[in-house]
Amino acid sequence: MKPLVVGNWKMHGTESEAPTLARQIRRGMRALHGVEVVLAPPFTALTAVQKVIKGSSVHLAAQDVHWEAEGAFTGEVSPKMLKEAGCRFVIIGHSERRHLFHESDQTVAKKMLAALGAGLQPILCVGETWEERRKGETTRVIARQLRVALKGLGKSDIKKIEIAYEPVWAIGTGRNATAAQASAVHQRIRGFLKRLVGQERAASCRILYGGSVKPDNAGGLSLAAEVNGLLVGGASLKARDFLAIVRCCNPISL
Ligand code: 13P
Repeated sequence: MKPLVVGNWKMHGTESEAPTLARQIRRGMRALHGVEVVLAPPFTALTAVQKVIKGSSVHLAAQDVHWEAEGAFTGEVSPKMLKEAGCRFVIIGHSERRHLFHESDQTVAKKMLAALGAGLQPILCVGETWEERRKGETTRVIARQLRVALKGLGKSDIKKIEIAYEPVWAIGTGRNATAAQASAVHQRIRGFLKRLVGQERAASCRILYGGSVKPDNAGGLSLAAEVNGLLVGGASLKARDFLAIVRCCNPISL
């Protein structure tokens, strides 16, 4: 399967700033094949970035979505709005949403259904805190997050979903999981998916690693067993670094 690299810009880049970075990445991608690249700018920059990447191999994602189609939900953005802005993907259940904004597993599940219903491909984030890992609860936490998020979806929906394993302790800390740590959790996620939807469908789902991915660790992480791509935060804000990470995932350039 084609590796996927996602740049999550978080709350960085205004409408006038974002196109410059998008343009640099689009240009750099001309020389890179065999990797799918997705950019997730803030809501207000979606349209401006879409104008830059339209017609290229780079796709657009939003960082969050509401589950209702419309209504009195001040501050929220619906799946249809994202679709019309040009999004193909949407990040759901990012740990910053879960921890800073108290999003529950149930909220994540509603967003998954709504996104798929609108034809958006969810990038579902799961991951344990350091405390949970220390207590040996990593597998249990991730299994719970997956079970609730995927409940209610059809078996064939799995093909439209990307899963990102982002250990909370590795996000923005400069302390990435090792390739072995990432691979161990990814294998458990794959096993969980197999039990849920069967071997063939489970095999079609990409499992990305995220958390302090940088050009100097991307090679090792992307080669680890069951790692099918990377979700990049801080390092996606510099075109040079981001493109270096993409290059690490490119099977042709290895
Ligand atoms: P960093 O790469 O900055 O650690 O962020 C990871 C992340 O949260 C991507 O969604």
